[in-house]
Amino acid sequence: MRSNFTMPDNLKHLIDKLNDTRQLTKDEWIRLITGRTSDLAEYLFSLAREERHRHYGHDVYIRGLIEFTNYCRNDCLYCGIRKSNSHARRYRLSEEDILSCCKAGYELGFRTFVLQGGEDAYYTDEKIVCLIRRIKERYPDCAITLSIGEKTFDSYQKFFDAGADRYLLRHETYNAEHYSRLHPPSLTAAHRQECLWNLKEIGYQAGTGFMVGSPYQTPEHLAEDMLFIKKLNPQMVGIGPFISHHDTPFADQESGTLELTLFMLGLLRLMLPKVLLPATTALGTIHPRGRELGILAGANVVMPNLSPTDVRKDYLLYDNKICTGDEAAECRKCLEERMESIGYHVVTARGDSLNIESIQNIAQ
Ligand code: 5AD
Ligand code: FES
Repeated sequence: MRSNFTMPDNLKHLIDKLNDTRQLTKDEWIRLITGRTSDLAEYLFSLAREERHRHYGHDVYIRGLIEFTNYCRNDCLYCGIRKSNSHARRYRLSEEDILSCCKAGYELGFRTFVLQGGEDAYYTDEKIVCLIRRIKERYPDCAITLSIGEKTFDSYQKFFDAGADRYLLRHETYNAEHYSRLHPPSLTAAHRQECLWNLKEIGYQAGTGFMVGSPYQTPEHLAEDMLFIKKLNPQMVGIGPFISHHDTPFADQESGTLELTLFMLGLLRLMLPKVLLPATTALGTIHPRGRELGILAGANVVMPNLSPTDVRKDYLLYDNKICTGDEAAECRKCLEERMESIGYHVVTARGDSLNIESIQNIAQ
């Protein structure tokens, strides 16, 4: 361990406490986040890696991301595919297109397909159900993760009954006032959170998350995010830096930092040791080795893109997104090499969460 010089003992003690009991008060979270130093971060990352190795070894799970529509009825102020962005070139993949992405992905060793899209009414519940059934018929050994936004309890139930295994819906920010500064009035923090509780109740492996460094975000908001995540006890948590998009109202806002994103990843790993934690594309976008650093801070999942290359550059939630010109096979190989370079291995496995007690508790 390097000198304790810039590592105040009271903060080190908070990290140790996190490792033991995983209970910090809001004030303690704030102190930890605002008082962080690079030495403290290194200490945190070494504990986070230990915890990750205990449960998941040096395996890195891959998820094949299929961005199947960039039509969206919502108008989130930060997002490049918001409905008011008239410059976005809109596309939808057909069921056949999606199935051929799955085929290519399966051959490359993917055993989870993440169907992500804007909130697009064209894809009715019936269409989504049919798609899930067809993928499951062809690839019964694969998991399906949906990431298609806020739906009713009934819709979530139908997708689950059709065979969907997991659902990603970031809560974005727990704090209602902060939420209202990032979203139009039609969207509320309370409804977002209700959706997450519904997903858990139905029995999905549920994923939440937030952007680091979103406009107006304070350490207090991050503290509230950590407390909410602790209470929700999700199977997955996706976090990445906010990155501005030139055609949104937040075009001139500063992006989130690599440093704070890594620190939050480390804290999440300690708070929820078995969580599935991706090193996100946004992290790889703000730093050339962002995803490797994310893995070294405690992450254990990467999500390369399986979407056809001709639509990749149209699914731009933020500027300068990486991997928009690469074939699925190239991304797969590139990530494998990146992971090997830091002593980790991409594995062909469904990679289900080990945190299953919390699903069963609720679903009983
Ligand atoms: N920067 C970073 N992440 C973004 N997302 C949306 N827009 C941006 C942006 N400008 C994230 C949101 C959303 C997820 C799919 O992508 O957190 O939930
Ligand atoms: Fe896509 Fe590296 S992961 S090119």
